[in-house]
Parts: sequence; structure tokens; C-alpha cells
Amino acid sequence: MFCVSGKVAIVTGGAQGIGLAIVKELLQNDAKGIAIFDIKADLGERVVEEINDKFGTGKVIFLNVDVRHRNEVECAMNKTVAHFKHLDIVVNNAGIFNDNEWEKSIEVNLTGTCNGTVLAFKHYLPSYKSGNEGVILNIASIAAVQPIFLYYPIYTATKSGVVALTRSLGHSAHYERNNVRIMALCPHYTTTEMVFPEENRYMTPEFFNFQTQLNLESPLVCQEPEHVAKAAVEIMEKGKNGSVWISEYSNAPYEIEMYFSKK
Ligand SMILES: NC(=O)c1ccc[n+]([C@@H]2O[C@H](COP(=O)([O-])OP(=O)(O)OC[C@H]3O[C@@H](n4cnc5c(N)ncnc54)[C@H](O)[C@@H]3O)[C@@H](O)[C@H]2O)c1
Repeated sequence: MFCVSGKVAIVTGGAQGIGLAIVKELLQNDAKGIAIFDIKADLGERVVEEINDKFGTGKVIFLNVDVRHRNEVECAMNKTVAHFKHLDIVVNNAGIFNDNEWEKSIEVNLTGTCNGTVLAFKHYLPSYKSGNEGVILNIASIAAVQPIFLYYPIYTATKSGVVALTRSLGHSAHYERNNVRIMALCPHYTTTEMVFPEENRYMTPEFFNFQTQLNLESPLVCQEPEHVAKAAVEIMEKGKNGSVWISEYSNAPYEIEMYFSKK
């Protein structure tokens, strides 16, 4: 079985929220080293200091990377393998919610995930993995897999793309060639900066009102980022290639089937 202990990982969007919780959970499970790719340089540097204090110096590096740009991601992957010598795990977690700026949402959530995924899949994991397998975990959202998620059409579309990308690359024919296992994790609402967006981040005020109404009828129940992080590590270790998982409330993560046929 794949084990995160002794492995080198990249976590995009790892300066705060779910990404930071995944960084810490990997270290608690004895990961060898982690590169955080994020645009929040000040925060990233503070996080490195905090982690040095808690886990010992040299386990984590911060690289100022905007995942929207393929060349920046590629350059940072080169720095990661030059620093840690190996690369075993890539967690594509960086994301935003802003349905008003749909081009940017698509660039960060979908193009950014494609950049991390494709570069890792084609070259960096097959070339630099320390054991038999490389692992990619893409952070999608419950919005991608719930039957109808009416509040955030753009965000939902980007996260559906992340799930589709993961399932396509997760075919066994690919695994037989390159030994890279790829899974998607769809968190339900989680207590981070993203969970209560301002009105101007919705497509129109009506979309904000739909969400506000829903919250009044049934208040959001959020899980903690640490709960998602435990699910993430469990899936990295045990998830089937191409599988899609949900983490919600205080439940253990569970895999969902995504094939529908009327036959
Ligand atoms: N919080 C939730 O309820 C929830 C639910 C489902 C899925 N998610 C997903 O989980 C992931 C993490 O979100 P979070 O809730 O921790 O949010 P967050 O806002 O706390 O963290 C997002 C991180 O991504 C970074 N980031 C944003 N744009 C970037 C870019 N262009 N390049 C590099 N880094 C960038 C931010 O600086 C930040 O550190 C996202 O993909 C989000 O869509 C969150």
C-alpha cells in the first residue's frame, strides 16, 4: 500500500485553509518534505516558520506561484525536485470562489488544476517518484457532484471540470503506463475564508439571496479543515485510481459512483 511517510509532496493553495491543514496532516504522518505553492507570500513565509517550530526545520519550502500560469508551476516543480530530490504527491487544492469574475475562477480552479495535474502526470511524478507510485489528489467540491447546485454556476462548472479531468486520467490504461494514481476529493462546506463569500462574489444579488434563504431555512453545518485533511491523506493512501470521494460533516470520507445508464 502507498504510504505518505517518507514522501515528498506539493500542496497548491497550502498557505491557509484546507491546503494548510493537508500540509500539517502529511507532516503528522511523517512526510519527508512539502513544497507549498501559493500567491500569499507573506502568509506562506509565516507558515514555514510555524511549521519549522512544530515539525523541525527543513520539512517545508514556500514557493510564490500563481497556479494559473503553466510556466510558474513548471518552474516551481523544478525547484521542488532540485530541493527534495524526489516528488511523490501533488495536491491541487488552490481555488477561489468568485462567480462574478468567471474568467479568473476558471483560470484558478480549472486551468490551475490542469497545470498541476498534467505536468505532474506527464513528467514530474513518473520521473521523480521515490517508490512504485506517484499520487495526484485534486480538491473539487460537493458542488460538482450534488444533483443541482443552483447558487454558484461558475464555481460548480469549474469543479465539475476538475472531477472530469480526474476521472479521465484515472483510467487503468494510463496507470499501466506511468503508475500515477489520481483521485478527486469533494469537500462539503468547510470552515475557511471561502465559506461565507460576500455578495459581490455571486453572479448576481439573486444568487446571493438564494444562498441566504437556504442558510436561514437550514443553517450551514461546516466541517473543520483538519477533518478534510485526514480524509485527503486516507484517500492518497487507499483511494482507487480515478475514484471520487466526499468529505462532509463528521463522517468518514466515502467514495461515490459516477456512472449513470438507463439500460
Ligand atoms: N471551504 C469550503 O467550504 C470548500 C468546500 C469545497 C471545496 N473547497 C475547495 O477547497 C480548496 C481550498 O479552499 P479553502 O476553503 O481552504 O479556501 P481558502 O481561501 O482558505 O484557501 C485557498 C488558498 O488558495 C490560494 N490561491 C488562490 N488563488 C491562487 C492562485 N492563483 N495560485 C496559487 N494559490 C492560490 C489562496 O491564497 C489560499 O491560500 C479550494 O479548491 C476550494 O474550492 C472548499
